[in-house]
Amino acid sequence: MIHGTTQIYGVIGDPISHSLSPSLQNPAFAALGMDAVYVTFRVSPSSLGDALRGLLALNVQGINVTVPHKSDVFQYIDEVTDTARKIGAVNTLRNDSGHWIGENTDAIGFIRSLTPLGLNLSGSSVGMLGAGGAARGVAVGLLEAGVSRLLICNRNHDRAVALVKSLQASFCQQSISAVSLEELEKEGLNLLVNTTTVGSDGYSSPAKLNRFDNLSAVADIIYRPSRTPLLLEAEKLGLPNLNGGGMLLYQGTAAFSFWTGLEAPESVMRKALDEHLSKI
Ligand code: ATR
Repeated sequence: MIHGTTQIYGVIGDPISHSLSPSLQNPAFAALGMDAVYVTFRVSPSSLGDALRGLLALNVQGINVTVPHKSDVFQYIDEVTDTARKIGAVNTLRNDSGHWIGENTDAIGFIRSLTPLGLNLSGSSVGMLGAGGAARGVAVGLLEAGVSRLLICNRNHDRAVALVKSLQASFCQQSISAVSLEELEKEGLNLLVNTTTVGSDGYSSPAKLNRFDNLSAVADIIYRPSRTPLLLEAEKLGLPNLNGGGMLLYQGTAAFSFWTGLEAPESVMRKALDEHLSKI
C-alpha cells in the first residue's frame, strides 16, 4: 500500500521494462519494514534533464540510472563521488536535500562479488577482456582494490588503448596496459575477468583458457546463462570461478546503502534475485 509518506525510489532508462532492480530493491524495503517503493521510469535521452529536475521536485529519494543515460547524467548533477568520476559514468543518484549526488556501484559490486574466490587483489596481476561500459567499472574496482598490474585486451585494440589512457589519469602508480590475447596468455595472471558480452549466447567464448600459463582464477560478469562456456572451461580445468550474479547483487546492496545509510538485507536480496532469475 502506498501512502502520502511513502518514499519513492526507482530506475530511469530507455528501454526499462527488463530492469531487475525492482525485484531486488522492493523485497529489501519490505524486509526492513520501510514505507518505500521502487518503480521504473522510462525516460528518453531528450527528456533526461527534465526528468531529473522533476524527480527532485517530487521528492524522489534515490534513482538508479541505466542505458543510455549513464554518461549524459553528469551534466545535470552537482556532485559525483570520486569512484563515479574515475569510471566516467553514474548508475546511482541520491537526493541530498534537493540536489543529486551521483555514485557508481559497479566497482564495489564487482569487487565484493569476488570474495568467494579468496584472492588477495593487492599487488596481483589481473587480465581483463573487454573495454566497453562494463569494463570501466570493473577496472576502477580492481585498481582501487590495489592490483599492481591490469592488462586489458579488447577486439577493438584502439578502444583498449583509450581506456588504458583514461585509467592512467586516475591511477598513476599502477601498471595498466593494452595487450593482445597472445600476450595476455603468457602473463601468469592471478585473475582473468570477462567483461565482454561474448558468452551470453551460451555458445561463444572470448578466450581459450587452456592456452593461459599459470592462470589462477576466472570471473565472468555475465549472469545469464549462469555458466558461460568460459566458466565451463574454467571448471573443467579446476580453476576457481564465478559468474556475474554476485556483481548484480552487490551493486544493488551498495545502492541500497548509499540511499538509506542502512546495511542492506543481503540474504533477502540474494533470494529475491535468484527467484527472479530462475523465472526469466
Ligand atoms: P557493455 O556496457 O556491456 O560493456 P559495450 O560498451 O557495448 O557493452 O561493450 C561490449 C564489449 O564486448 C566490448 O569490449 C566489445 O568489444 P569491441 O569494443 O571490440 O566492440 C566486446 N564484444 C562484443 N561482441 C564481441 C565479439 N563478438 N568478439 C569480441 N568482443 C566482443
